[in-house]
Order: sequence, then C-alpha cells, then structure tokens
Amino acid sequence: MPSVRMTSLVKIHRVGRQVVRAADGVSLEAPQGQILTLLGPSGCGKSTTLRCVAGLERPDDGEILFGDRVVFSRARRVFVPPEGRNVGMVFQSYAIWPHLTVFENVAYPMDVRGVPRRRIQERVAAALDLVGLGALADRPAPYLSGGQQQRVALARALVYEPEVLLLDEPLSNLDAKVREQVREDLRGLQRRLGITTIYVTHDQLEALSLSDVIAVMQAGRIVEVGTPQALYARPTTRFTAAFLGEISFLSGAVAGREGGMLTIMTPSGPLRCRDAHAVPDGTPVVAGARPEHVTLTPDRPAGAASVFEGTVASALYEGGRVKYRVGMDGLTVLAYGAPRFAPGDRVHVAVDPDQVIVLPDLAGPATRPMAPGSPAGPPPPAPPTPG
Ligand SMILES: Nc1ncnc2c1ncn2[C@@H]1O[C@H](COP(=O)(O)OP(=O)(O)OP(=O)(O)O)[C@@H](O)[C@H]1O
Ligand SMILES: [Mg+2]
Repeated sequence: MPSVRMTSLVKIHRVGRQVVRAADGVSLEAPQGQILTLLGPSGCGKSTTLRCVAGLERPDDGEILFGDRVVFSRARRVFVPPEGRNVGMVFQSYAIWPHLTVFENVAYPMDVRGVPRRRIQERVAAALDLVGLGALADRPAPYLSGGQQQRVALARALVYEPEVLLLDEPLSNLDAKVREQVREDLRGLQRRLGITTIYVTHDQLEALSLSDVIAVMQAGRIVEVGTPQALYARPTTRFTAAFLGEISFLSGAVAGREGGMLTIMTPSGPLRCRDAHAVPDGTPVVAGARPEHVTLTPDRPAGAASVFEGTVASALYEGGRVKYRVGMDGLTVLAYGAPRFAPGDRVHVAVDPDQVIVLPDLAGPATRPMAPGSPAGPPPPAPPTPG
C-alpha cells in the first residue's frame, strides 16, 4: 500500500465571477497503511481535496503522489484519471442503488468494466465477507438498515482491492449508536487490510477515535497536523483547540516562573501551569482549560495550584456527568462534575496545572471573555472587551 502525498495542492472553483480557493496550498501526507483524517468545518475544502486525490477534480496546481508514482503534477503535466489510480471511494451521500440487490450494488463497478462473471462472484463475495454482509447478498438494497447500507457502500469501495481508500463523511447518515458500531468496524477493517485511508469528517469525536493522524483544515488550508492525542492535549492554535473539543479560554500575560511552574496573570487571578513553554515574562497568552480538567468544590481546595471563585450559571445533566457553566468576573468556564451544584451556587474552581493549554494571544493583551468553543464549528468571534 502506498502513502499518499499532496504538495502545494490548489483547486479553484469558479461560480460566475466568484472564485473559491477550495484547496489553497494543501501539503499533506497520508502515511502508508494509516488513516489520515481531514477535519474541518463545512465548506473548508475537505471534499474538494479528497476528490483531487481520487482524480475526480483536476487541481490547478501542485502535485499528488501515490508512493513514488506521480498521479498529478501541474509542472510535469501529469493527470492520471480516476480509473488509473486504484482508489476505492465512499461518497458523502453514499448512493447505493435501491433497485439492485446487495450483490448487484457491490458488483456494479466491475460489471460496467466488463470483468468476467466468475471473477466478479469471487470478489464480491470476499468484499461482502469483509464488511460482514455475506449472508445478505441477495437482499434488495431497500430492505437494509442504514448501517447495512453503509457497509454495502464500503464493500463497493473495497471490491477492487484498492491501494487507497477515500471516505467522505461515510457515517453522516447514521444515528449515533449505529455510527459508533460502524466506526469501530471500519477501524478494525482498515487495520486488517492495512490500507492507506483518507477520511473526511467535521465531527471531532469521529476524528479523534478513528485517526492515526488528523489534519485540521480551515478555509482551504491546513491549520495543524498531528496525532489525535497531541492535537487534543497540545494544540498550537486556538482554532484547533476549540474545534477538537470543548474548552474555556482565559487571556492573560506571563508573570513569572518558579519550581517548574509558569504563572499567567488573568483578570480572575493567577493561573499556574506546567512550564513547558519558552515564553518570556510579559508575553500575552491565551490559556485553555478543557472541562474535564476543571474541578468545582464548595470550599477552597487545599493544595490546588490555581483556584478561582465563581457562581454556577447553568448545570446540564448529561447522564454520567453534569456540564457546568461557571461565571467568574464576566467570564464563563466549563467544568464537568457530579450532580452536586445548582445555578446560583458559589463554587471554587480549580484548574489542573498539568493540562492547561498555553497559546499565543494573537489578538494582543486585551482581555476577552472565555468563549466555550463549539465542537461543530470554528471558535465564535470574541465578544467585545469588558471594562
Ligand atoms: N463544484 C463546485 N463549484 C463551485 N464551488 C464549489 C464546488 N464544490 C465546492 N465548492 C465550494 O468550495 C468550497 C469547499 O467545498 P467542499 O465541498 O470541498 O467543502 P467541505 O469541507 O467538504 O464541506 P462539507 O463539510 O459541507 O461537505 C466551498 O466554499 C464550496 O461552496
Ligand atoms: Mg464535503
């Protein structure tokens, strides 16, 4: 299985006079045998990038290599059409044909290319076994659950034994439970086949749980690339930090270091965090705290590195935990905890110093209210500065 490498990929869409740089200098590698996920908000260029890899779009610039093989290069005037690339693809709307059986759906791409009947039989049976649908080959497609239809689409993508698998939001039509099951199956299948895969989603949970490598995309560009763990725990941009999960941001400035701890002076008081950042004193920074690293207590906890005081603004019961919003001096912090507090309660807010995410404050030293990031979209614009 080859790796897939994109270098300075540009794809421009034109609608009338409007020009959209859907892929705007994308350089990225899907390592051999791994899952690379393109994660980003709607319209950021994920599908366009994937379609360029499949050969369904002709890029305006850049290069795409499968291993050592150039499949697109503007400079070298190479464009290998889709059928010459040996990729399997599941589209955003997975489009299986309702008038065909499971078998016929999976056989379709080979049928239209005139592959001999016996060969088709073998390949389809193997592909259906892979996705656990061997017993349903003769069933008409409409008599399948959503998850089973999804597997048919996947079997159809795999039937050619492709070297590269391209999946564009393949689980978006499934309800939460089935989605989780198919996600696990997909991960297991990908591991077993060792097939180089590019996966597109705007769902951060899906990206975190499926990927070997995540590339965060915004407005046609790659913002950041890393393993799920690295991007979640140590993002280097506010966009990534907010896109990968819920987070509260505190603005402040570095006010000294002592005993391996950095102190950030915020409007709510000093915040201490592990000094893993070569940031000089006085530098404006944004400190991010994920709700699982924020602890609420009625009394001031002994020995905590940084403790603030606040008032519970809301408590949202989520089953295993409660999501609290706590107001402190005009800011809002998110915390997870046991069902213990009600709106209006005064609480102490402790932030785990080992888990604080320190980011450069590109907007400068101004104090901004902490805006919880929306996991389904880019961070909301900062409200006006208080005071
Ligand atoms: N065929 C097209 N013609 C013109 N503009 C297009 C075309 N396809 C996509 N675009 C535009 O290019 C940009 C990127 O679109 P793309 O479909 O790649 O986004 P996406 O990240 O896959 O979004 P979503 O998550 O909604 O599927 C968008 O602004 C979109 O409107
Ligand atoms: Mg898309």
